[in-house]
Formats: sequence, structure tokens, C-alpha cells
Amino acid sequence: MAYSSFLYLVFALMSHISLSSAFQDYLCTNQANYTSNSSFEANLKATLSSLRANSRLPYGFHNTSAGQGPDRVNGLFLCRGDISPAHCQSCVKVINEAIIKLCPKQKEAILWFDHCMLRYSNRSIFSVMEDTPKLIRPYEEKAKSPKLVQQALNSLLEKLVPQALSSPKLFAIGRVEHNLSLGSLYGLVQCTQDITKAECRHCLSMPVADMTACCYGGKGGRILKPSCTIRYGNFPFNESSPASLAPPPLIRPSPPTSYSGKWKISKEVWAVLVTLVLVMLLSSLVCYLFGVQKATEKQIPVMEGKAAIQSIKATSSLQYDLGIIKAATNHFSDANRIGEGGFGRVYKGKLKNGQVIAVKRLASSSGQGAEEFINEVTLLAKLQDQNLVRLLGFCLERQEKILIYEFVPNKSLDYFLYRSAKQGQLDWQICYKILRGIARGLLYLHQESRMKVVHRDLKPSNVLLDADMTPKISDFGIARLFDMDQSHGNTSRVVGTFGYMSPEYAMHGEFSVKSDVFSFGVIILETVSGKRNCGFDQYSCDGEDLLSYAWRQWRAGTPLELMHPNLTTVSDSKNEVARCIQIGLLCVQEDPADRPEMSVVVFMLQNVHVALPLPKQPPWFLR
Ligand SMILES: *[C@@H]1O[C@H](CO)[C@@H](O)[C@H](O)[C@H]1NC(C)=O
Ligand SMILES: *[C@@H]1O[C@H](CO)[C@@H](O)[C@H](O)[C@H]1NC(C)=O
Ligand SMILES: *[C@@H]1O[C@H](CO)[C@@H](O)[C@H](O)[C@H]1NC(C)=O
Ligand SMILES: *[C@@H]1O[C@H](CO)[C@@H](O)[C@H](O)[C@H]1NC(C)=O
Ligand SMILES: *[C@@H]1O[C@H](CO)[C@@H](O)[C@H](O)[C@H]1NC(C)=O
Ligand SMILES: *[C@@H]1O[C@H](CO)[C@@H](O)[C@H](O)[C@H]1NC(C)=O
Repeated sequence: MAYSSFLYLVFALMSHISLSSAFQDYLCTNQANYTSNSSFEANLKATLSSLRANSRLPYGFHNTSAGQGPDRVNGLFLCRGDISPAHCQSCVKVINEAIIKLCPKQKEAILWFDHCMLRYSNRSIFSVMEDTPKLIRPYEEKAKSPKLVQQALNSLLEKLVPQALSSPKLFAIGRVEHNLSLGSLYGLVQCTQDITKAECRHCLSMPVADMTACCYGGKGGRILKPSCTIRYGNFPFNESSPASLAPPPLIRPSPPTSYSGKWKISKEVWAVLVTLVLVMLLSSLVCYLFGVQKATEKQIPVMEGKAAIQSIKATSSLQYDLGIIKAATNHFSDANRIGEGGFGRVYKGKLKNGQVIAVKRLASSSGQGAEEFINEVTLLAKLQDQNLVRLLGFCLERQEKILIYEFVPNKSLDYFLYRSAKQGQLDWQICYKILRGIARGLLYLHQESRMKVVHRDLKPSNVLLDADMTPKISDFGIARLFDMDQSHGNTSRVVGTFGYMSPEYAMHGEFSVKSDVFSFGVIILETVSGKRNCGFDQYSCDGEDLLSYAWRQWRAGTPLELMHPNLTTVSDSKNEVARCIQIGLLCVQEDPADRPEMSVVVFMLQNVHVALPLPKQPPWFLR
């Protein structure tokens, strides 16, 4: 088959309803298999098509069955309570196809998407509350104060469950304020509409054991049961457009991105402008009233109403004294220097309290104003994920602009990749873990964080590895600090690195999440091959560039030729390697539209049984 229709549908679904992550989970209960051409199969088809046909009904729920006796199939779908019938219809259409691909030949299966769920079985499942099997899926990002999140989740459920029970759809969405700097905890709860209110209440109850064993400390998560679902997290689930919270492309000229087209002067933009003016007034008032100190005196616009006050407090806690940084790095001594990049030198330092930090001293050519800098750094510090290097704060004094990061002990990925002595240490399991971690970190930057961040300079030297080889992406968002540099007058300044930049970025300065996907594809191929991709820069290259070589081997049906001879694999992981190569090729497609979104990449990396689309030839870099 030339194309996996499933993935095709996934792409379609994502572009169609722009879900930030369409998949939640699925469960093939593996009780029994049906055979091809059996009457069970025919009944399943009939059930699914009847569900599809009824998916535009106002309540977003339907149950139906087909056949008799042991071949009877019972099926139901449930759409999220706040989506439109049309949206429900398209979700059910996709989930219908997906369930067959994900659980082939299964007599019983459940699939949860963000906006709908589908379930079928040979058993009778209607009007029966089932709260097992349950899937509990905390986000990987851990909260600073798990106890508080847990308390907040409790109060969220106390608020939402009664609301759901009194609504005909057994659905409620809302939020509670809590004591974390994060602000609110958002959540939604929903039961299938065939069970009673008492059963729904039971299904939505969270035994303490569940909370402590499973979700404790997660900043958010999902609890998926056959008869109900609970979601909670630190951002609203119904805000499908991250642009509404993103830092404003309006304040500064922004380079041509694939999003800029969306910023027509519309109602929302006027709303943002008005809010900005109000917030600026408010924050200057606050500064005035509280006599906030010099460096933080500058207004911090771009925040939502009450967040402005919090952010002023946050800013002062993010700001470090130059004296402290000098002491920590031994006056930026060469002995403390651990790296040098396009944006400046990096030093290792140790604070008085023993904390080890990495200090990035930005090149002074960044002529951007203090308030934009503070504003931007404050936003970047909010990006926290286990696959991102944590930004701890900044220092802004005299001519110095300095970023302070957590220190990650194990050097960067390039150090392990290209040094043949080290190569022996990298076995495939670790490489695979690293690749999946990078993919998740990128997914967070692109879709799961409140601001949509395109990294623009993803490469192995920007992937740091901690003590247990968990990858952490660094330097994200720095391009934004420099793009505000008005003295260049050229906001489409290309900050990437040849070899990792997509053709449209390298040649036209156009970047988007898809240019990061391209860079990730190059990283996959480099990780497998231990070779550097040269792109334009031929001097370190012998002969053919990596993409063409990978493509040639893949076409010839010998993708594993690409593997570095020292890359050790265990018996059955060769398949994984071959899959990764194919995913890598999909990511480096010439047309950005042909490259998968990171959510799809993550899905493909996690689900080894899903068939992959076929890549086309990657771009040739003209020499
Ligand atoms: C159903 O088929 C799958 C493979 O298609 C197999 O792994 C599984 O064991 C089968 N289950 C039963 C209960 O026969
Ligand atoms: C199922 O039916 C189709 C067409 O009737 C036939 O081509 C196929 O071989 C059958 N498969 C099995 C497993 O009987
Ligand atoms: C849906 O479930 C209810 C409750 O069990 C049942 O009475 C009804 O017949 C089912 N609807 C269909 C179309 O099977
Ligand atoms: C469903 O299928 C399984 C496996 O074939 C069987 O054991 C079970 O009795 C079936 N349930 C019903 C209600 O037919
Ligand atoms: C999101 O849900 C809240 C209820 O929590 C509602 O007030 C708001 O209007 C919704 N926003 C959108 C964009 O649907
Ligand atoms: C938040 O803190 C206040 C005062 O410290 C306390 O009274 C309140 O119960 C806390 N709320 C939560 C959800 O922890």
C-alpha cells in the first residue's frame, strides 16, 4: 500500500480540526479475535457505519448494535460535550477508521481522541457503568508542588462533577484558582450518556489510591475509563488556538512565518491591542504604587490582566545580580567556559547555595531594549518540560545580557554522535530514547506550551543529555531575543545552522514548526549513521550528503546500511532502526506540507505497529 490511510487520516484530522494532540489512547482488550469475512466482521462494519451516520445528532452520543447471538456487535461513540455537531461528525469519521487500524480483528476495543471516543464489543455494553479498564495518563511535566495540584484537582472535581450530573450531556468544563504561580487548574469531566447519574458520579470519583499512585504531581493528566473521562491541566482545553495567548507578533515586526498570515486585523487583534494598552496602564500603575525597583520598573506588557501583577513578582525572582553571576563563574574565567555558540559564550558556574548553573553571556550585538528582553525571558522561563533545559533567570546590568540555565551534566548529543571513541557507548536503546525525548520536547514547544515556539536552530549541539541520558533541548526561544534587534532592520535574520535548516528557511528565511521538523529529521539520520549532514557546507563532507545517501539506501531496500557500524542493537530492534530512518526521511521532505507535525512524529515513534507513509526524495542542496 502506497499510503497508510490511517496516517493520512491523522493528517487530515489534524489540519481539519486543528487539534493540538488528536490522540489520547486506545485499548484493544485482546479478549478474542474475529476472522476475516466472518459475520462478526460484517456486523462490526454495519455498527461503525451506523455510528458514523448518527454522529451529527445534537447530543453527541449514540449507541447501536448489529447482528444476533455470538456475532452481535454493540458500539457507541461519545463526542466531547462542547464541540459542534459538525466537528463531532468529523471526529467520529476519523476515529471509525482509526479503531480498525489500531485494533485489527479485535472483538472489543476502545479508542479515545481529544474530542471523541469510540467503543465496541461483542458483549452488551449499553447502560452498564464500566470504570475498568482505566488508563491514567499524567503529563510528564511534573508540578513543583504536587500536594497543591492534588488539592486543586480535588476542588476541581468537587466543582465540576455536580455540574456534569445536572447537565443532560453529563459533561462539564471549567477551572479553579489555586495556589501555584500557574494560576488556574482547568479541567473537564464527561460520562457516556447511557449510564445513570449515580453511576456517573461513581465513575468520576477518584479514589485516593488513584491520585497518589498515578497522577500525583503531574501538572495535568487524563483519566480514561470506558464510561467516563477526566482531564485536568494548567491550560484551558478549549482554547484551540495558541495564538490567542502567544506573545504578540504585533509589537515587533515578525519574520515571515507560516502563522503570520493568520494575523489579519480582526476582532481578536483589536481585543489584544485594547488589552495590551489596559495592561500597560495597569502595570505602570502597579510599579508606581509599589515602587518596584529599577530593573523591573519597565512595564511588562503582553500579560493577561491579573497576570501582570504576578509577573512583576516573578520577574524579580528571575533576575540575578551581576555580582552573583561573576562570583559563580569566577569572573567568566576561561576555566569555567564550557561552550561557545552563535549567541555568545557559555560558562559553568556555582551559586553560593551550591546549585550548579550554566550561564549564557549573550553577545552584545543584541541591541534589543531591556523591557522586551525581560518580557521575553519571563515568557521563556515559563516553558518547562522534562525535555527542555530549564531557564532559571537572567541578568541585565550595564552592557550585560545573561541567561541562567540549569546545568546539564552530560554534554551535548554531538559530543556522543561524531566521536568514534564515544560512539561505542551509544547503543540503539539509548539513541531511541534520546530521539523520542527530543520529539516530545519539540512537541511541547510547538503545541503544548501556551506560546508557540519555533526553535529555529535545533541541532545535536543544542540537545543536552543529563546523567541518565534524558535529552534536554537548549537555546529554544533565543532566536526571538535576537530577532527583536532593530538595528539590523532585517527581522528575517537566519539564525539556524547549515545542514539542519530546511530549504525554505535557509533560502527564504521562512520558518515554521515544519522547519524544526526538518531539523529533527536530520538529527534522526545523523543519530543512526553517526555522520554529520553537511547541507551547504561541504568542507567536512566526503562526497554525498547524508540525506541523499539515506534516501538512496532506503530506496534500494537497504536502509540499515545507514547504521554506524558501532551502533549496537539488540535482536529485534533493527525494525525500530528502519522505522526511524523512514520517519527521518518523512521529516526532511522538501515541501513543508509533506512533513508530519511533531504530534504525528511522536505518535509514529510510540506506536510501532502503525504503518508509515512513504517518503519522497528529500531536497538536493545545490552546491
Ligand atoms: C489475536 O491476534 C493477534 C495478532 O493478530 C494475536 O497477537 C493475539 O494473540 C490474538 N488473540 C487471541 C485471543 O487469539
Ligand atoms: C474474503 O472475501 C474476499 C472476497 O469475497 C476474498 O477475496 C478473500 O480471500 C476472503 N478472505 C478470507 C480470509 O476468506
Ligand atoms: C442504546 O442503548 C439503550 C439502553 O440499553 C437501548 O435501549 C437501545 O436500544 C440502544 N440503541 C440502539 C440503537 O441499539
Ligand atoms: C465475546 O467473545 C468472547 C471470545 O470469543 C466470548 O468468550 C464471549 O462469550 C463473547 N461474549 C458474548 C456476549 O457473546
Ligand atoms: C472555554 O470554556 C469556558 C468554560 O470553562 C468558556 O467560558 C469559554 O467560553 C470557552 N472558550 C471557548 C473558546 O470555547
Ligand atoms: C491557598 O492558600 C490559602 C492561604 O494560604 C489557603 O487558605 C487556601 O486553602 C489555599 N488553597 C488551596 C487550594 O490550597
